[in-house]
Amino acid sequence: MNTASTTGTANATATANASAAATASAAATTAVIGATGKTGRRVVDLLEHRGLRVRGLARSTTPGFDWDAPESWPRALQGVDRLYATYSPDLAVPESAAAITHLVDVARDAGVGRIVLLSGRGEDGARRCEDILLASGVPATVVRSSWFVQNFTEGMLRDAVRSGVLALPAGGAREPFIDVDDIAEVVVEALTGEGHEGRVYEVTGPELLTFADMAALLSELHGRDVRYLPVGFDEFHAAVAADAGPEVATMLTELSREVFDGRNESVASGVFEALGRPPRDARTVLAQAALAGVWA
Ligand SMILES: NC(=O)c1ccc[n+]([C@@H]2O[C@H](COP(=O)([O-])OP(=O)(O)OC[C@H]3O[C@@H](n4cnc5c(N)ncnc54)[C@H](OP(=O)(O)O)[C@@H]3O)[C@@H](O)[C@H]2O)c1
Repeated sequence: MNTASTTGTANATATANASAAATASAAATTAVIGATGKTGRRVVDLLEHRGLRVRGLARSTTPGFDWDAPESWPRALQGVDRLYATYSPDLAVPESAAAITHLVDVARDAGVGRIVLLSGRGEDGARRCEDILLASGVPATVVRSSWFVQNFTEGMLRDAVRSGVLALPAGGAREPFIDVDDIAEVVVEALTGEGHEGRVYEVTGPELLTFADMAALLSELHGRDVRYLPVGFDEFHAAVAADAGPEVATMLTELSREVFDGRNESVASGVFEALGRPPRDARTVLAQAALAGVWA
């Protein structure tokens, strides 16, 4: 379905014009796919705070956008100038490449002049999707992220923190956990600023921490004992499958095999490149979350 190779001059001109229009006009509409999610709702808030017109999209919105129902996409993107896309469940799944290919086609047909895609660091499937987008001819930026700090405060690990045990197949891997507010600011800059076309912003936090380090930090800030329990991939799969079903378990297990093999044990400068300031550290983000009572 990738029409990148057949995109002609007319399309290139149309997208260039649309891009200029998107930059120039405060009346431009920005759509956010995943608008109720961790990065999406922050991007919506930041854009609205600037007085920009925003269309939040998820399965529950009107119009709705469902990655599993491509017939919903043209209506959702009608009249949209800029687009921020977060893919669910994760770009690591095999069907993501076809989905991103088709999304770009629908976006181009709708006259979207700029696309920003959230991607995952160290994921082969995500890299394929980045390449599809960047080769599409539609002005685009990739924000390639490390693990979110907010996985512990509002994501899949919040209940684990409450229970006091983080059982993960991460061994002694070190991860540069990133603040989702930083990601949202980078995304908004890429959507509204100049000079971001074709860029890949690899965004991470400022320091490498093991999950044992995170557990120690969480214990201190939560005021209750939280420990990291390294588990094997099979044990992890069985535990997730019992809770969330075999498909989610397989996806998370395969993702863990990829990203916890040491490949992501470095910090990157994407936040500084996009915003001209360093990223916030995990302690600062978790301390704020503790004050807000997220684990109460
Ligand atoms: N978590 C991390 O550490 C991390 C790191 C790097 C990259 N990422 C990437 O971040 C993205 C999302 O992660 P997240 O943890 O922020 O997710 P999240 O907070 O759980 O939010 C998911 C969003 O997507 C929507 N959604 C779910 N299923 C959908 C579907 N079938 N069609 C359309 N919308 C759907 C949800 O709204 P509704 O349910 O209302 O539809 C929600 O708005 C993924 O692409 C992941 O690869 C995550």
